[in-house]
Amino acid sequence: MAPQRPPAVVIVGFMAAGKSAVGRALADRLGLPFLDTDEVIAATVAPIARIFEEHGEEAFREVEAETVLRELEALRAAPQVLALGGGAVLADEVRAALKRQARVVWLTAPAGELWRRATTDPGASRPLARDEAAFRSLLASREPLYREVATITVDTRGRAPEEVAEGLCASLSGVSAEATDAGVEPAEGAA
Ligand code: S3P
Repeated sequence: MAPQRPPAVVIVGFMAAGKSAVGRALADRLGLPFLDTDEVIAATVAPIARIFEEHGEEAFREVEAETVLRELEALRAAPQVLALGGGAVLADEVRAALKRQARVVWLTAPAGELWRRATTDPGASRPLARDEAAFRSLLASREPLYREVATITVDTRGRAPEEVAEGLCASLSGVSAEATDAGVEPAEGAA
């Protein structure tokens, strides 16, 4: 009999929380493909910074919600580790869809560490990481949304992506694989 594939994992969290790096490391460990919805948007529509610049944030949010909902739906047939952009949780339909997923991991880190990572990440171009006060206030406004959808919360402060992925593998083995509307208590301290 073919070995059963592990269930899908969705990773949410603020900019520079490590969603892609942890997601990739976790996917390797679980033997699942990895997909980042920001990369899907960049490959199928346009680079994110360009969408913001030419069409504005609202247009980006529409494309983002459409992309995320499509990829969440696709997980039913083909489990993956899916990392979402930091603002994907702003859309009500996205949060509703996330609440039907059993394994939604919220990666947290202190605001100062997120700002440092976001502004020193080579190659990353984040239109919403240009002013530290605005960045911090955006983080505060988003935290309740991540909390609303997360089934597992992992503090990444001072930890390398590999280390976070290793801990996550252990936490995930204790979390139901069944998609459900019910949340599960955080495995590690919330932010
Ligand atoms: C955004 C986060 C970015 C990207 C866009 C907007 C946000 O993704 O989707 O710049 O609103 O938080 P990352 O969280 O991967 O940086």
